[in-house]
Amino acid sequence: MSIDTRFKNKVIWITGASSGIGKALALEFANLGANLILSSRNEESLNEVKVQCAKKLQKEHLVLPYDATNENQVLDLVVKAKFFKGKIDYLINNAGISQRSGILETEMSTYRKLFEIDVLAPIALTKAVLPIMIAQKSGHIVVTSSVAGKLGVPFRTGYCAAKHAVMGFFDALRTEVFQYNIKVSTIIPGYIRTNISKNAVKGDGTSFGKVDASIEGGMDVDECAKVIIKGLEKGKSEIPVGVGLEMKILTLKRFFPKLVFKIMNGQYKKIAKSNQLDI
Ligand SMILES: NC(=O)c1ccc[n+]([C@@H]2O[C@H](COP(=O)([O-])OP(=O)(O)OC[C@H]3O[C@@H](n4cnc5c(N)ncnc54)[C@H](OP(=O)(O)O)[C@@H]3O)[C@@H](O)[C@H]2O)c1
Repeated sequence: MSIDTRFKNKVIWITGASSGIGKALALEFANLGANLILSSRNEESLNEVKVQCAKKLQKEHLVLPYDATNENQVLDLVVKAKFFKGKIDYLINNAGISQRSGILETEMSTYRKLFEIDVLAPIALTKAVLPIMIAQKSGHIVVTSSVAGKLGVPFRTGYCAAKHAVMGFFDALRTEVFQYNIKVSTIIPGYIRTNISKNAVKGDGTSFGKVDASIEGGMDVDECAKVIIKGLEKGKSEIPVGVGLEMKILTLKRFFPKLVFKIMNGQYKKIAKSNQLDI
């Protein structure tokens, strides 16, 4: 089946669809004839994305606002999502926040926030959607991890821990659900030009508010969405996507982990400077 037809009439639920990678995925999938369910907190932005998506092939899309920190919402959301078209073909757990703070400045409440949004929220949504996919005898669960889910990066202790956790959870999930004809894909972006650093949390949990140099020099988000969709079409378990040195370091880590630990030690000052962090 070609990429032009594979996603036609598929129901694709994307979290974090108001901005960045999630929004770019929504627009790209709309081009391919999918019916989208768009989720995040900002209903106004989601409605704007919906209008842009509907312009493409005039398919029906649903805005389903949610706050990833509110686990009590999940069952109600899943009922509404299933009611939309009677099925859920893809769940793309993409909503997330990053971090810009050293360990000594990072409050425990900030670590909890990172884990709630980046780890526990995708677990809760996946657990609730899974019975629907098992009944359908098909489905594809996707999560956006990060290169930070494979490498330890300075000023990201909480983010790296969260993205490593996500990697482990969804790798383990894959081994349990393949028997039901359900695929699991993990997206591994490097630096992508989005609002990720602006929305990243500082140690006290407030927003960093700046676009840092690494994000500014990152991959174009629409290009990123195209690479991800190609990877999903092929049913890849892992989809690395990015253009910078971080992607080479990712490969290096597989064969020379000690060397990479050394390189990352040397990154402390460089990252602080490029991220405009005080050290
Ligand atoms: N950009 C990169 O360089 C990069 C690299 C590696 C991994 N990633 C991962 O890619 C994913 C998407 O990030 P992005 O780069 O597209 O950043 P972004 O532009 O900041 O988008 C983040 C999305 O997550 C949603 N979100 C944040 N907190 C939420 C909450 N409490 N409840 C519901 N939704 C929430 C935001 O929507 P609302 O504000 O409307 O809630 C927004 O749609 C994240 O998981 C991120 O960790 C990004």
